[in-house]
Amino acid sequence: MQTRSVAMEEGKELPMPSRTIQARVLPLKLLLFFLLFLGVGIAFIIISMLMSRHFYVDNVIIPATSNRVQPCFQEPLSFRSWIKPPSTVWHTMNDSQLFWRASFDPQITSYPFKRVPKIAFMFLTRGPLPMARLWDRYFKGHEEHYSVYIHALPSYVEDYPPSSAFYRRQIPSQVAEWGMMSMCDAERRLLANALLDISNEWFILLSEACIPLQSFPIAYLYLSISHTSYMGSYDDPGPFGRGRYNDNMAPLVNLSDWRKGSQWFEVNRKLAIDIVKDDTYYPIFEKFCRPACYVDEHYFQTMLSIQSPHLLANRSLTWTDWSRGGAHPATFGAADMEKKFFKNIIEKQKCMFHNQTSSACFLFARKFAPSALDTLLAHSFEFFGY
Ligand SMILES: *[C@@H]1O[C@H](CO)[C@@H](O)[C@H](O)[C@H]1NC(C)=O
Ligand SMILES: *[C@@H]1O[C@H](CO)[C@@H](O)[C@H](O)[C@H]1NC(C)=O
Ligand SMILES: *[C@@H]1O[C@H](CO)[C@@H](O)[C@H](O)[C@H]1NC(C)=O
Ligand SMILES: *[C@@H]1O[C@H](CO)[C@@H](O)[C@H](O)[C@H]1NC(C)=O
Repeated sequence: MQTRSVAMEEGKELPMPSRTIQARVLPLKLLLFFLLFLGVGIAFIIISMLMSRHFYVDNVIIPATSNRVQPCFQEPLSFRSWIKPPSTVWHTMNDSQLFWRASFDPQITSYPFKRVPKIAFMFLTRGPLPMARLWDRYFKGHEEHYSVYIHALPSYVEDYPPSSAFYRRQIPSQVAEWGMMSMCDAERRLLANALLDISNEWFILLSEACIPLQSFPIAYLYLSISHTSYMGSYDDPGPFGRGRYNDNMAPLVNLSDWRKGSQWFEVNRKLAIDIVKDDTYYPIFEKFCRPACYVDEHYFQTMLSIQSPHLLANRSLTWTDWSRGGAHPATFGAADMEKKFFKNIIEKQKCMFHNQTSSACFLFARKFAPSALDTLLAHSFEFFGY
């Protein structure tokens, strides 16, 4: 009984402290629970903040701010921005990027603006252009109708005066070796750079030893009424023609397709894009046309003859004298500069122009030594009409 009462008392008495303990324990547990909840909540908030910050930095914040901020500083995209020529010929594109960009071609053939077609004069040289002053005279007054591009050795630092057409026209270049694919790469690089200006319609490849034989307006007229491009291209059965063909090029290039011609060409915009975008013939010529196969005398000539034979005049606009024989054409110096000499080149030739035999065959000539410059400058109007 006592024990029971004790037990009872204990049992009775026990609930009292247990109740007070319970009453004290319950808020404590709640507090702990709330603290835990709070802790989890804070942790969750911190983690989600960290995650969202990480997420925002990577994916949202940059485009979001640039979307919001840019309109304040940038003009809306205008039509002009598509058609205006690049303000400088310098850029940071490598060849793959440049060629890809240059291959863009509008699919609507009528231009929704007054497009004045220009001639792109592309000079492939090692360094200085000794004939620059003669060219400057030739260009003078025709600024709306031409643009100039120079591919020189990467190390060459130009020093043309700001008044010259050659001032700051040197494109990002690489070393080009005669008869090697790097020479064709340089020519494609010139074409690609010139293609970035949508107004360029005719693309002429020239060397530092070239001079203009006719005045600019005559050259411009000549090109604008031509239905063909001027790429020297013929089938030479001899050892320096078909003899350089490699059987491994078939069936993409058969022996009967093989062409030879001068490196110095004029092509229109369509053919310029065809040359820049080519990845069909390039690998074959790179692999199978190595010295003594001089690829710059065969690659474009053969490729265009297969792809667009009807667009080719198969002759060059640049006069060259091979009559002295040997591997290199004749070079003319001060002593050769006479009216009679140029009269022969300008008037006493024969070629097809507009489906007719014509004597107006050449707009340019090579090779001229720096020593010829002074006489040419003194007589340019008498000789060439400019
Ligand atoms: C040009 O740069 C791109 C990107 O860096 C690269 O993939 C490509 O191979 C480069 N092309 C050349 C010719 O260096
Ligand atoms: C080369 O010849 C083959 C076989 O005769 C022919 O299938 C192929 O089309 C020819 N290639 C060209 C470019 O004409
Ligand atoms: C140029 O040569 C191609 C064949 O390679 C020919 O189809 C084309 O008619 C020639 N062009 C002219 C103007 O004779
Ligand atoms: C030249 O002749 C060809 C074929 O006879 C013709 O298709 C072409 O239009 C002519 N070109 C010119 C400029 O007269």
